[in-house]
Amino acid sequence: MTNEYVLILDFGGQYNQLIARRVRECNVYCEVKAYNKVSIDEIKSLAPKGIIFTGGPQSVYGDDAPSVPGEIFELGIPVLGICYGSQLMAHVLGGKVETCTVSEYGKTETSYDKSCALFADSEIPYHAVSWMSHTDFISKVPEGFRIAAHTANCPCAAMYNEEKNLYAVQFHPEVNHTQFGVKMLASFLNDVCGCTGDWTMENYAEKAIKDIREKVGDGKVLLALSGGVDSSVLAALLSKAVGRQLTCIFVDHGFMRKNEGDEVEAAFKDWDINFVRVNAKEQFMGKLRGVSDPETKRKTIGEEFIRVFEAEARKIGHVDFLAQGTIYPDVIESGAGDAAVIKSHHNVGGLPDYVDFKEIIEPLRMLFKDETRKLGQELGLSETLVWRQPFPGPGLAIRIIGEITDEKLEILQDADWIFREEIAKAGLDRSINQYFAVLTNNRSVGVMGDFRTYDYTLALRAVETTDFMTAEFSRIPYDVLEAASRRIVNEVKNINRVCYDITTKPPATIEWE
Ligand code: XMP
Repeated sequence: MTNEYVLILDFGGQYNQLIARRVRECNVYCEVKAYNKVSIDEIKSLAPKGIIFTGGPQSVYGDDAPSVPGEIFELGIPVLGICYGSQLMAHVLGGKVETCTVSEYGKTETSYDKSCALFADSEIPYHAVSWMSHTDFISKVPEGFRIAAHTANCPCAAMYNEEKNLYAVQFHPEVNHTQFGVKMLASFLNDVCGCTGDWTMENYAEKAIKDIREKVGDGKVLLALSGGVDSSVLAALLSKAVGRQLTCIFVDHGFMRKNEGDEVEAAFKDWDINFVRVNAKEQFMGKLRGVSDPETKRKTIGEEFIRVFEAEARKIGHVDFLAQGTIYPDVIESGAGDAAVIKSHHNVGGLPDYVDFKEIIEPLRMLFKDETRKLGQELGLSETLVWRQPFPGPGLAIRIIGEITDEKLEILQDADWIFREEIAKAGLDRSINQYFAVLTNNRSVGVMGDFRTYDYTLALRAVETTDFMTAEFSRIPYDVLEAASRRIVNEVKNINRVCYDITTKPPATIEWE
């Protein structure tokens, strides 16, 4: 079965992935492609049901401003332009774009013309809030277009040409702050493009299992299982597809959270796969003795990981396929080019050079995180595994500031366990995207009973984010923080002070190292 397909042309907008996620939430399969990496001929052969132009940071009159050939509007394929995408549509089709006297940013009261298909849904009112972020605006619509929305400062907040199925909105329907934004996108997809919404994880699982079987035949598959959501879902999918032709190697470097290594093992014990756990803590600790620099820690762990994995893989002999849990956000190449590398991320996937295999398979390559989770549920993985919060490859090693010792590792595991328990007790474990404890290298004076103490300061970190590129600190109620702090200083030895990290990313990062 081939799914209905919508093409998202990316002009470097900060919300490109969000648009794609919203489209998928409407059960329509879509892909994001950089505007300059796909030709008109390719678009014709992809035959999308619709095309969406994202926003972008430029002005249509800027030097090297991203553009599209006018032909794209003549293919008979419906187009929706968003923000920069709307201005581009106006510009290319002979309208006029100018710089606003007052640029609009944030929640903006907007009036809609209900005769436009985007706003016709009975739930969408005549006036509602939209999310604006622009300094240019469409001052004259191209011939054949009508204005379909306006705000106090923006005379054309939306325009359309019904006959040609061309639609454009200056605001961002994909952002939650736009009331009824998803309804508007759904109207474009269903009413304008004629999509029926045939993209579900049930369909996907069935098709992926069939594709994997066809590709793998009777070959052997190897997977580095970290216990994270992506590699766990992949293990489940591969197990359903090829059963014992799959070997999962779980390298326990010793920097997992408390009890986590055993939990991962327990989760996969009864699956129809070959499961190998390597307890390599001593080996990793040996390599990290005396190391306190964060980048050296990451590099050392990454290299050692490869070595341990490689040694284990060698015992299996030749494998045909190396499976990797790459997911769609890692794949999307933005129209704005690559972002700067802030930290050298160690992902358990980066191994191919060292293992004897024929080909890489990445069955989750086109899925977003929420889809990966849904697939996991579909395949029967436990809630705990499916909803596990992200955990960095180097584990607690980058949450212990300075040199790592057995004692510090134990302190952090115990404290982190308590914090997670209190967050779950307060029912916050799904709304906070990542929460953990960090053992600082700082000691301070305290008093316990009649005695002076001189012990470690623990930092708690909790963030809310959609993409992990930017993040807000979570506004956890004080009583939850207080309960966690009280338990930690009482129950964990060598901690006499607890702080809560209230920095956003940027300028801070989520992890401390
Ligand atoms: P930062 O600290 O860069 O983290 O704001 C962003 C997200 O990435 C995770 N992270 C990692 N994940 N290997 C990983 O697989 C790594 O080396 C690594 N470092 C950070 C971090 O937990 C957060 O979710």
